[in-house]
Amino acid sequence: MRFLEASMSVTVIIGSQWGDEGKGKIVDLLSKDADVVARYQGGANAGHSIVLRGEKYILHLIPSGILHPQTTCIIGNGVVVDPAVLLDEIRLLETKGIKVVGRLLISHRAHLIMPYHKLLDQVQEDFSSEDRIGTTGRGIGPAYVDKVNRSGIRIVDLLDKDTLINKIQSNIEQKNQILEKIYQREHLDAELITQEYLSFDKKMDEYITDIAIYMDQAIKDRKKILIEGAQGTLLDVDFGTYPYVTSSNPVSGGACTGLGIGPTQIDRVIGIIKAYTTRVGHGPFPTEFAEDMSDQMRELGEEYGATTGRPRRCGWFDAVIANYAVRINGLDCFALTKLDVLDTLSEIKICTEYRFGNKPITNFPADLRTLKQCQPQFITLPGWQVSIKDIKQYNELPQNAKNYIETIESLVGIQVSIISVGPDRNQTIIRDHFKF
Ligand code: GDP
Ligand code: IMO
Ligand code: MG
Repeated sequence: MRFLEASMSVTVIIGSQWGDEGKGKIVDLLSKDADVVARYQGGANAGHSIVLRGEKYILHLIPSGILHPQTTCIIGNGVVVDPAVLLDEIRLLETKGIKVVGRLLISHRAHLIMPYHKLLDQVQEDFSSEDRIGTTGRGIGPAYVDKVNRSGIRIVDLLDKDTLINKIQSNIEQKNQILEKIYQREHLDAELITQEYLSFDKKMDEYITDIAIYMDQAIKDRKKILIEGAQGTLLDVDFGTYPYVTSSNPVSGGACTGLGIGPTQIDRVIGIIKAYTTRVGHGPFPTEFAEDMSDQMRELGEEYGATTGRPRRCGWFDAVIANYAVRINGLDCFALTKLDVLDTLSEIKICTEYRFGNKPITNFPADLRTLKQCQPQFITLPGWQVSIKDIKQYNELPQNAKNYIETIESLVGIQVSIISVGPDRNQTIIRDHFKF
């Protein structure tokens, strides 16, 4: 099997559901042996939590390898960067004694989040209140729209004063028309925004480089590289529950375009998957619990958004989704997280397929009208009803917990190689076959 080899150089880690699967925890854990940890898409909509000796760190833009001093952390061209958020994050980490300067590199091709992106994100959501997406309000959608529309402003533009001034002015002229004529909002002050962004050049200069060249050299040098997805497969703009998605490609394929590496460079893809399912924001969710059970799981799993604090919707594990994630991302194995959250339950359900009328559906549907009418079909397994949070070896898990994991493995056809039984770095079971 591909993932048995310890010498693998490039590993991509992605979210297999609707985000918040525990990517931060697993990336931090594996970063112990990594040289490079890189983000390739999304922006400060991400909230990746790491718990280290009881202290919680929430990272939005900086890769989750930053707590290991030997890593170089990369923000690739596919990420949309809010400089104010990034500089705050750097400051916060440095005040906690974590050195970032000299260890963080940002692609000069990455696009900037501008104040008008955040404003447009919010007013668009207010305007379409009936079918709002429930975005994080971080300006992600409007920034990617400008990128694809070829009117975006890139990190490299920060280093050229005249270009920056011209691009900001022409963007604001256009955005002010939209804000005024469509949304009846006040004009933005071009001068104020220009001054703010002109001040970023000196603060950002030392981090900016050509990441595609850096990655190429790191791969040639056989550096151990971890590539960290944000969001998750079902929030992917192409493969997620469109339009209730984010505006980037969190799937493993996005790692190539978001960092400037070729598909042949990727050695292994690991899917992070929760032992149940959650979702923040609007959109379909076939295995969603009824309100009482959702409230119970939310409390057990502390399911509140790491970026917005919003309560997460909760539901049972969905093997249709897990299989879809295996297929779309080419997963080699899963890291199953938050298994301990199920400790107290007497019965646990797994959705094995959907029914559309009388028809069984095992491939996740593209059409939301179909998806909304799909009835999840469940099997019920007995719970283990003891705490597993201190277990370090697979064979020490209660038999019913092993049954649960092995049932998932038989439904998805790949192995669960890492099992997370608590938020802390060391609350993790790494199975013998997994090498990093
Ligand atoms: P990410 O966006 O995928 O990095 O995930 P988040 O950090 O948004 O959400 C995961 C939450 O679960 C965080 O609060 C983590 O500290 C926590 N967490 C991660 N793994 C485990 C686990 O195995 N058990 C428990 N109880 N909590 C976990
Ligand atoms: P991490 O990396 C969970 C969701 C939002 C909304 C939709 C679009 O922590 O797993 P956006 O602001 O991206 O335009 O919002 O995507 N969303 C996330 N949900 N985890 C995330 O990131 C998310 N990032 C965006 O709630 O439904
Ligand atoms: Mg998160």
